[in-house]
Amino acid sequence: MQVRNTLAGGVMVALTVAALALTGCGGGSKAASGDSAVTTVKIGIGAPLTAGSVAQGLGIQRGVELAIKEANAREDIKAAGLKFASVPGDDQGDPKAGVTVANTFASDRSLVGVVGHLNSGVTIPASKVYNQAKIAMVSPAATNPALTLQGLNNVFRVCTIDSVQGPMGADAAVDKFGAKTVVVVDDGTPYGEGLAAEFGKEFAVKGGKVVFSERTSDKDSDFNALVTKIKGANPDMVYYGGTYNAGALLSKQLFESGYTKPLMGGDGLFDPQYVALATPQAAEDDMVTSVGLPTSELPKGVEFKAAYEAAFPGEEVGAYDAYSYDAANVLIEAILAAAKDKGAAQVIMPVGRDAIIANVAKTSTEGVTGKIEFDKNGDTTNKAITVYRVEKGEFVPYVLPTK
Ligand code: ALA
Repeated sequence: MQVRNTLAGGVMVALTVAALALTGCGGGSKAASGDSAVTTVKIGIGAPLTAGSVAQGLGIQRGVELAIKEANAREDIKAAGLKFASVPGDDQGDPKAGVTVANTFASDRSLVGVVGHLNSGVTIPASKVYNQAKIAMVSPAATNPALTLQGLNNVFRVCTIDSVQGPMGADAAVDKFGAKTVVVVDDGTPYGEGLAAEFGKEFAVKGGKVVFSERTSDKDSDFNALVTKIKGANPDMVYYGGTYNAGALLSKQLFESGYTKPLMGGDGLFDPQYVALATPQAAEDDMVTSVGLPTSELPKGVEFKAAYEAAFPGEEVGAYDAYSYDAANVLIEAILAAAKDKGAAQVIMPVGRDAIIANVAKTSTEGVTGKIEFDKNGDTTNKAITVYRVEKGEFVPYVLPTK
């Protein structure tokens, strides 16, 4: 009885608060009618948030959220009758989950742009769904060349591609590190396979010898048989096309077997989690290529880092965070231009969606990551790749882009 009374009391209080809120609402009717003129436009974030390359995926989410927060404070955005909201979509680094995320995004009529996805093997199938729904997609991280060769007008990326990244890695391996022999391993994903093939091709062109190549899976965690084979061949280095969870375990198991030469890979390995999972001892001297310049070398990098760290205390800027921030801003500007041209309410309609895609294609701006322009396929003209090496447990620049 006592409990019921208390509950009833709680209901009374709740009703009173609701009534007060309603009264307040009447008083704020101008604000309410003003709000009705605001069109909320959503930007989806397609990334691995609970499985796969989660550390990098969460960084992508933060980059987009920072851009949206800044946009919503801008007077020109408010004057255009726009408000932005982000919708995270957890693709788990899995193609099927990625398509489910894409279909969920496509079913939301106020969602007109996507920053994503991270993994090429997820981005490629998801991009077809976005194409059907006239959603502009800008990937901050998917580097497989095939993504932009599908003839889809809504598909863009602000990062460079693996036919640039793989050779850059091979050049550094031969010219700077002095490797003459390599074992090339990939993780069986479109990204890993493509990148490893590009690396191997250039390594051979430069006179190096690919002792053997082997395919694994991005879900593998036990590389024992492969490690034994690599130890027997004793190459100058191992190249791994894949992402950091499995890549780190390969590095760790190689080290534990007594093979202490470096492992090299691409942007998929470029995260402190790689070092943590491999252990700093095993990861020492390992090398990765990654897209763009180190944040410290970018004209707007210091400002970006400060804003990022203020918004997300304790978080470090990751491999794609400046890229996802730039990708979100590309979409924001394209949506703003469409709203100014056609009216805010139209941007979520088919005519607005076409305009947004056309505006993204015309992008010419200076982002945090540098100049952003797209070629006819939707690829960025920014081809910068940096090579990093693990020194005392941290990635430090090893070869900077020649620009
Ligand atoms: N760049 C990597 C990919 O395309 C992460 O899958």
